[in-house]
Amino acid sequence: MSRPELHASPTDFRLACDRARSSGARVALVPTMGALHDGHLSLVREARRHAEVVAVSIFVNPTQFGPSEDFSRYPRDLASDVAKLAGESVDLVFCPDAPAMYPAGEQTRVRVGALAEPLCGAFRPGHFEGVATVVSKLLILTGPAVAVFGKKDYQQLAVLRRVVVDLMLPVTIVGAGIVREPDGLAMSSRNAYLSPEERARALALCRGLRAAHALFSAGERAPDALLAPVLGEVRSAADRVDYVSLVDADSLATVARAGERALVAIACHVGRTRLIDNVVLGEDPSP
Ligand code: PAJ
Repeated sequence: MSRPELHASPTDFRLACDRARSSGARVALVPTMGALHDGHLSLVREARRHAEVVAVSIFVNPTQFGPSEDFSRYPRDLASDVAKLAGESVDLVFCPDAPAMYPAGEQTRVRVGALAEPLCGAFRPGHFEGVATVVSKLLILTGPAVAVFGKKDYQQLAVLRRVVVDLMLPVTIVGAGIVREPDGLAMSSRNAYLSPEERARALALCRGLRAAHALFSAGERAPDALLAPVLGEVRSAADRVDYVSLVDADSLATVARAGERALVAIACHVGRTRLIDNVVLGEDPSP
């Protein structure tokens, strides 16, 4: 275990990545917003399989939060995050402040088309534009061979795969599976907001996904039939449901019949906390 080199300045971080690359090392980047849990650390371990130098960014990106979202109360604990990353022998940590990433006068955004419109895009206007913008900046600063993202944020991963193709960024995007608590709850920094009673209700998401997975395994392909138990679970447990959808796992478009790979995705609110979860039927194990 060795302490990572910390950089708050984009220029210093860029120079550190340049040095690593010119010494012949491959660099892997894991972008995060901090409040790190085992889901994030699984991405770090995946990154290590692809590169000699692993860099993790910790930045709560203001442009991906809506005006009524949780930007100001998002959990922040840099010291504990750095200790966790030291335990994974991470080499570089980039922890800029907002003016460093968005200096006075900045006005450029990366806007993604149809992939950013359904699902979370319909409920969080501007969210994926903020994500695509900050991740493009991070990739350009780092120059990684590989960048690792979790399938927990399935649409984000799909949008970012599109960004690197369309902007011709020379990086391979790697997607890593969802890490869950022993009872099935998908790990999330936002789980820290949940009261014990809300946390118990939050288990409805993975219960619903398991039911859809079982129906698909038994041969069911009709979207309404696959979604019925998911809707039942989520409606009875959540305070507000944003969506429970079945879409094509690549285009994210709605389908009349579940194909070989169909994404079932949920977004709902339990108390004041917005939770998401998903499974790719035909690909993922049961959640
Ligand atoms: P954040 O929510 O901190 O997540 C950082 C990365 O960890 C994302 O790729 C996310 O999909 C992954 N992740 C979160 N929970 C996970 C879990 N339970 N299992 C596997 N992977 C998980 O996503 C963001 O930050 C931001 O939008 C970011 C990409 C950093 C841009 O600001």
